Amino acid sequence: MSSGKIIKDFLHKDIIDIQLLLCLALKQKKEQLFANPSYELTKKELNKLNKLIKDRNNGKPYAYLSGSKGFYHLDFQVSSDTLIPRPETELLIDIAIDLFKPNQAIEAIDLGTGSGIIAITLADKCPEWRISASDKSINALKIAKKNATKDIKFYHSSWFDELTGKTFDLIVTNPPYLAENDSHLEDLKYEPIEAMVSGKDGLDDIREIIKNAPNYLNEGGYLLLEHSDRKQKEIVELLKDSFINIKTYQDLNGLDRAILAELR
Ligand SMILES: C[S@@+](CC[C@H](N)C(=O)[O-])C[C@H]1O[C@@H](n2cnc3c(N)ncnc32)[C@H](O)[C@@H]1O
Repeated sequence: MSSGKIIKDFLHKDIIDIQLLLCLALKQKKEQLFANPSYELTKKELNKLNKLIKDRNNGKPYAYLSGSKGFYHLDFQVSSDTLIPRPETELLIDIAIDLFKPNQAIEAIDLGTGSGIIAITLADKCPEWRISASDKSINALKIAKKNATKDIKFYHSSWFDELTGKTFDLIVTNPPYLAENDSHLEDLKYEPIEAMVSGKDGLDDIREIIKNAPNYLNEGGYLLLEHSDRKQKEIVELLKDSFINIKTYQDLNGLDRAILAELR
């Protein structure tokens, strides 16, 4: 049934992401919208579009409406159980790839994998690496498993709890790192809080990972962490007992964002 509304009625309206929302509602590419501006929406399509517009206006991120987000060179399914991949996390991929050769048979694990972006991207770029991934959230793991294009071992585990006896050449992690009262949380109300918040100072999870990582690293192994731009110095201090050759990195916005450390 026709709705009496055509694409052109919306195309240039001042509505956030309207062209993308039209693409989703009509299952069309942008070029198709512009090629058929007089196409009349069915009632079903109009209802779907109105719902998308309402959700987007209420602040729901576009990635949760489309159900996917690009990261590095791949597209990942996301859901309300997973954090939306952030471009700054691509820094971890570049650092990890520089550490070893792609054809070296190393063991690596991505702790707190979420939608699987770090593990899956590394597995795709470095075919010889044996890659594992873990998360405390069973629902996030379900999404990560759907996203996996290569053979990855998945663990349902709170940090190292289910990894007894396993050791790795590289532990990479982008754990929750916001403080409970972080002002950014207001803008992040659609993302899972347990993927973002880590105690009063945002360091609870990082402290636990740094404390336990040495037991799960091979000789000369590395811990690679993403962290809050305000905590780099503090984290470097936490690492000094058990790690050497501590290197710090900034993201593309010039913010302190990652640390690499080698087991002492
Ligand atoms: C900041 S998100 C990062 C997700 C993904 N690596 C990314 O960059 O999109 C942190 C992830 O850690 C997981 N997590 C939180 N607490 C955990 C714990 N105690 N053990 C394992 N994973 C945990 C969350 O479920 C979430 O998927």
